[in-house]
Amino acid sequence: MAKSNQLIHVAFIMDGNGRWAKARNLPRHLGHKEGCERVTDIYEECLAQGIKVMSLYAFSTENWNRPKDEIRHLFSYLELFFKREIKRLIKDGCQVRTSGDLSKLPKRTQKVIADAKAKTKDLNNFVFNICLNYGGKEEITRAAKLFAKDVKDGKRKIDSLTEE
Ligand code: IPE
Ligand code: MG
Repeated sequence: MAKSNQLIHVAFIMDGNGRWAKARNLPRHLGHKEGCERVTDIYEECLAQGIKVMSLYAFSTENWNRPKDEIRHLFSYLELFFKREIKRLIKDGCQVRTSGDLSKLPKRTQKVIADAKAKTKDLNNFVFNICLNYGGKEEITRAAKLFAKDVKDGKRKIDSLTEE
């Protein structure tokens, strides 16, 4: 049984990639590459610590304001991460999940993520949740739209809406 002080879910916000690269006179995108490498270390440590869920804030709705080329690099490193790590995620019994609206992501990225999710959907030793095109306000808006649709379709009553 989990100890009462056992951490269950730990979230990580990726930051400082650009500063890391700048301090080394490297292009920003190599900072993102390095950041992706570090995700593997964090993942391993979470497993070793008996943590059950790891959330990784990798790309926020605000990140679309970055230069196109930087965005392109970010997604290509993300694809590389899954292609490189999928075998080991499966071996570890890790279920890949996402938070955020993936429909705006490059098609190729969507495919790599869908593939990782499909291959790991029945695994339950650990959850690797990656937040992509994620924003708290966006999430509330999306949930409200879904609810409004259910009300319109007669599937739910307005009063059934709760904080939960
Ligand atoms: C985090 O590093 C990467 C993403 C948000 C995708 P930053 O790109 O924010 O790095 P700094 O803050 O400019 O150093
Ligand atoms: Mg930053």
